[in-house]
Amino acid sequence: MKVIVVKNSNEIASEALKVMLETVKSNSKAVIGLATGSSPIGLYESMIADHVNSGTSYADIRTVNLDEYVGLDEKSEQSYIYFMNDNLFKSVNLNKNNINLPNGMNADMQVECDNYTALLNSMPQDIQLLGIGANGHIGFNEPGTSFDSTTHIVELEEGTRIDNARFFNSLDEVPKFAITMGIANIMNAKKILVVANGKNKAKAVFEMVKGQVSENCPASILQKHKDVVLVIDESAASLL
Ligand code: F6R
Repeated sequence: MKVIVVKNSNEIASEALKVMLETVKSNSKAVIGLATGSSPIGLYESMIADHVNSGTSYADIRTVNLDEYVGLDEKSEQSYIYFMNDNLFKSVNLNKNNINLPNGMNADMQVECDNYTALLNSMPQDIQLLGIGANGHIGFNEPGTSFDSTTHIVELEEGTRIDNARFFNSLDEVPKFAITMGIANIMNAKKILVVANGKNKAKAVFEMVKGQVSENCPASILQKHKDVVLVIDESAASLL
């Protein structure tokens, strides 16, 4: 695991941009795995600025997102499809047909899980971007999730719902279920880029980098991947 420690969120964005652009510029049809949440926002802003100022094209780039809430559609401001449209997709020249997220509105969520895994198997990620939860989750794979898991439905932990409640009017509005790529789907990516900032991520970052590889900390499996770049600020790195 390559660990890059920088001073602040701006520097995380610029270091992470370099890693993302290596993939995007070396393969115009690359499959890029994307994440939501606060951690990747700076990177997305940098990708947009680079697209506008330097002309990096996403015309043939294909995207797959990690996860989505069950029961929210793209009109809901809290859905991950809405987030991605708002924070990245609408501002770069991605082709709509090349954008893929799990559909949280499918009447049969098991079919949705199977279809999403089939899609991922047909186009493995050249790079997968990840944030990390304070409990070590990646995607919505909470502690205890099998390392062999593929796309599945999860019941969100109370702590995760509380963390995410800031995006909703109240905790009650935070969905109780989500659909997420499994850990095996994430590990199948050729390269993995993790971004994290802030003191509240320090313990999870420590467990991910130096802890025992255990399903108690889903991110610890990344120690077994051959090409992981971790870009974090000094607070997130403070226990390393
Ligand atoms: C988002 C996702 C989550 C987040 C994690 C960190 O698609 O899958 O695993 O990456 O919860 O969230 P932030 O960045 O908001 O701290």
